[in-house]
Parts: sequence; structure tokens; C-alpha cells
Amino acid sequence: MMMGFLMIAMELFLLANMSSSFAINSIQSKSIGAISKSSGWHDSSIKAENDRAEAACASGYATTDSNDAADSKKAEKINQHFIRGLLDTIQEELDKWMINGSLITKTRIYSTLKQVERQSMDPELVILASRMIRNAGLPLEDPELSEKVDRSIVGSRIPGRGESETSSNDIKEAATFASNVIARSGSETSFMGARLGIGGLDEILLEIKRRVWIPLAAPPSLLQELGIQPVRGLLLFGQPGTGKTLLARSLSKILSPMRPPTIVSGPEIMDRFVGSSEANLRKIFDSPPDLYPQYATRDDAHVLKNVALHVIILDEFDAMARARGRSGQGDAGVARDSVVNQLLAKMDGVDALKAPTLVVGLTNKRDLIEPALLRSGRFEVQVEVPMPKTVQQRVSILKVHMDQMYKSGRLLVQDVADGMPAKRRIQQFPSEQLARYDELLNSLAEQSTGMSGASLAGVCRSAASRALERSVSNFAGSFSDEGEVASSTEMKDCLVRKDDFEQSIQEMIIMQNFNKKEDDKVSEDD
Ligand SMILES: Nc1ncnc2c1ncn2[C@@H]1O[C@H](COP(=O)(O)OP(=O)(O)OP(=O)(O)O)[C@@H](O)[C@H]1O
Ligand SMILES: [Mg+2]
Repeated sequence: MMMGFLMIAMELFLLANMSSSFAINSIQSKSIGAISKSSGWHDSSIKAENDRAEAACASGYATTDSNDAADSKKAEKINQHFIRGLLDTIQEELDKWMINGSLITKTRIYSTLKQVERQSMDPELVILASRMIRNAGLPLEDPELSEKVDRSIVGSRIPGRGESETSSNDIKEAATFASNVIARSGSETSFMGARLGIGGLDEILLEIKRRVWIPLAAPPSLLQELGIQPVRGLLLFGQPGTGKTLLARSLSKILSPMRPPTIVSGPEIMDRFVGSSEANLRKIFDSPPDLYPQYATRDDAHVLKNVALHVIILDEFDAMARARGRSGQGDAGVARDSVVNQLLAKMDGVDALKAPTLVVGLTNKRDLIEPALLRSGRFEVQVEVPMPKTVQQRVSILKVHMDQMYKSGRLLVQDVADGMPAKRRIQQFPSEQLARYDELLNSLAEQSTGMSGASLAGVCRSAASRALERSVSNFAGSFSDEGEVASSTEMKDCLVRKDDFEQSIQEMIIMQNFNKKEDDKVSEDD
């Protein structure tokens, strides 16, 4: 009872403070009153008012002699805070609209936009609201506004809602710093396959460098002058085992040097509960990982976190992004459709993002992807990751997987350095005919026509385990009855030979033919 009385007294005290503070800006307080009466956002308006009252009290706003410039700055801040609340409402309504398509929801969205237009002191927030709406698939009624949205391109680099207010100069400086970091991380040899451990895809890497990295590394002011924006979506498609996942992970290290990428697979996002799949997806976009410590500890970290690129890798993308309406009946189809809608909204509605975001989709079933996602502005850059076609490409892949065994002297070839295990064997059997490392690579590449990167990696693994098997069985046989190791020379003799690779290639060919026959059988049955 006493407690309740105290709380009411405190509220009255706050309201009294509020009314004196807001007498200074009567237009502002009138508009707030109108909103809480006329719309359904009563609670959030009260909360906003309380927040503002607290801010005003804390800063002595109600009591100090008014300095016009400082007052108007504060009024602007309060207004911005309030408008951002309205933007939140628009986003929530858009999310709802995408699922229910209801006319009432749509009307509410437009009327909230009108409110933003009428009451925002910052024209950029009006553009932000309009962009959210248009990008979610709703047309803008006012052509002039629509044109303004077209002209504004810095949207993806302004801070997310609820973030601390920062001057546009700070944001510009931080964005320039972030693009410099990307420029450094991708310069010189960074995009070379040999350095990344990716074979036979140098052309693909260069294409991605040109189309994705360059705009990210360029100064934002230059992009603005050119009227272009960095790409938001990259789709890597191609047959299984061609290195898409490998490529995306390596690329993310170059493109996102300030924070770790988010890596998820399509099936992980899908959830059997209605609404949960979109929520999973939204969470990924809304929770970029923290900056790496060297950036998180900087003085400007609070601005950097809003401008540092967030790379999201969506592996097995087709599992979540199938064409709408064709996903089949039932809950799974409905869930997928709304995930696609959510993805469209997130990729387009730049305002809802806490940081500029690049989405990398990976799939071997590009035909199944919703066409709307493939339009420009979304997954605008689409790159096919091909099967290795030439001997040279297969050599590059084999090299990625054999270099380690060669350098450590575990590969039985002629040109091996002194003191290595293979050298000992060569000295023991000097008459043995051995190929040089490059000759071996060429010969294996010629024998493995039609194999993917994953199959070639498999061949190398299998060859190594043959050598291991040989020496481990010798090693095991060398245990004395007492369980003591008689000699460890067998481990030193663990060498991978040419015939280990050749036998593994033959096995792989047999397995691939078998899998192909099985696939053909399945498609005939269909
Ligand atoms: N171009 C390549 N260079 C080197 N290794 C490769 C290459 N392509 C594939 N590999 C090897 O094969 C493994 C599997 O490749 P990865 O998972 O990237 O293929 P994918 O294209 O994503 O396949 P899927 O479509 O089945 O998901 C890699 O981890 C790597 O060891
Ligand atoms: Mg993959």
C-alpha cells in the first residue's frame, strides 16, 4: 500500500518535471500527445516520454538558463529518439505484413510513415523509413519521396536504431577507416588461390575481388560520388565438392577483417515451429558478432561496430531460399516462404541492420532459388564455382593437399631435401626409379580427369592413410611380448608413394561410377 503510494508520488514528480522541460518545445510535446492518443503505440510513447524526461533531468535541461543552440540540439536528439521508436513500429508492422499480407497492417504502415514525415526533424530518418517500406515490397505513394530514396545511398552505413547518437562526421570517419582495413586485408597476394589453400579457382577469386572487394575497399565518399553501393549479396553456385564452402570461408577472412563472419547452414535456420525460422534468420542479421579485440578496444569502437562489415554465410542456401509458392504444401513450405520474405526484407531494408551486411549464399541447386532473391540489389553477384577442367587446375588442387607431405619429406619423390624421411629411403635404395614432385603432380592430375576438388582431396587423404596403415601394422608387429617397442624405424618409414595415389584414384573412379549409376536409377524411377 505504502509502496504503491510512493510509486504514484514518484510518477507525479516525473510528470511535473517533464511538463516543465517540454514547455520549451511545445510542438514536440503536442505531437507526442497526439500520437499516444491516435495510435496503438501508447505504451511506447509513454516509455519514450519517460526516457526523455530522464534525459532532460539528468542533463539539467529543465533548470539551466536556456541557450538556444544547446536547446535545439537537445530537442533534435529527443525527436530522433522518438522517431526511431516509430521506425521500430514500422519494422514490426512490415514483418507482420510480410506474413499476413493484411490491408489493415499495410494501412498502419503508411500512416506511421506519414507521422514520421510530419514529425521528424531529421529528413534522413524519413528517407530511412521510406526505404524500409519500399524495400519490403510496398510501393511509396509519394513519387518525390521515392526519388529521394533512390538518391540516398549512405543508408547502410548509418547506425542502427537504439544505438548511441553519433555525429555524421564520426560515422564518415569510421566508415572510411573500415574500408581502409578491408583494402589492406585484400591487397597484394591476398586473393591468390595458392595463398588461400584453394586450387584452380584463381579466375573466380579475381572476379570476386573485382566485383565484391573493390567497392568495399573504396572510400565511401567516392562510392557516394559515383552513385554506387557495395554489393549486399553474393551467390556462389556449382556442383558438389567444387570448393564453395572453402572459398566462402577464406573470402570472409579478407572481406570481414574487423569481426568474425556468421556461418550457418540453411537447414539450421529452418524450424518446425511457425514463425521460429524467420526469428532465427532475423537474429542472425540483428546480432553481428563483436569486433575483434584490436578494434573493440579503440575509443571509436561504438561507431566502428556500426560500420564494420558483417559477413553472413548461408551454406546449403537452397534449403531455406526455395522459390515461393513452389516449396510444397504444408508447414515446411509456409515456413520457407516466410523465411524468403524475411530475407528479402533484411537484405533490402537497410535501416534494420545494425551494420552493413554482405550475405553469401552457397548452393548446388541454383535453379531452386527464389527468383526475387536473384534480382539486382540482392544476390546481385552470382558466380559459378566450376569443376576443375584442366590438368593445371587439378595440379593446383593436388598441390594444396600434397604440399605438406612433400615439405615434411613424407612423400616419396626424387627431389626431397636432405635429412628428410624420404631421403633416407632414397639413400637405402638408390636404384629405385622415382618421379620428381612436379612430375608426380602432373601424372596424378592426368589420371583424375572429371574429379572435383573434394574428390581430389579425398584421393590425397586415402593415399596418406594407405601409407599410415602400412607403417602402423609394421609398428604394431614390432611390439615385443612384454609390450615394449622394439624399434621405431617403421614410423620413420611412413612414406606416401606414387602407387598409393594411383590406387586411391582407381577406387575413387569406381565409387563415382557407382554413385552415378545410383543417381541415374533414382532419376529414372522419378
Ligand atoms: N578448389 C579446391 N582447392 C582445394 N581444395 C578443395 C577445392 N575444392 C574442394 N576442395 C576440398 O574439398 C573439401 C570440400 O569442399 P567444399 O565443402 O568447399 O565443397 P562445396 O562446393 O561446398 O560442396 P557442396 O556443394 O557439397 O557443399 C574442402 O574442404 C577441400 O578440402
Ligand atoms: Mg558446401
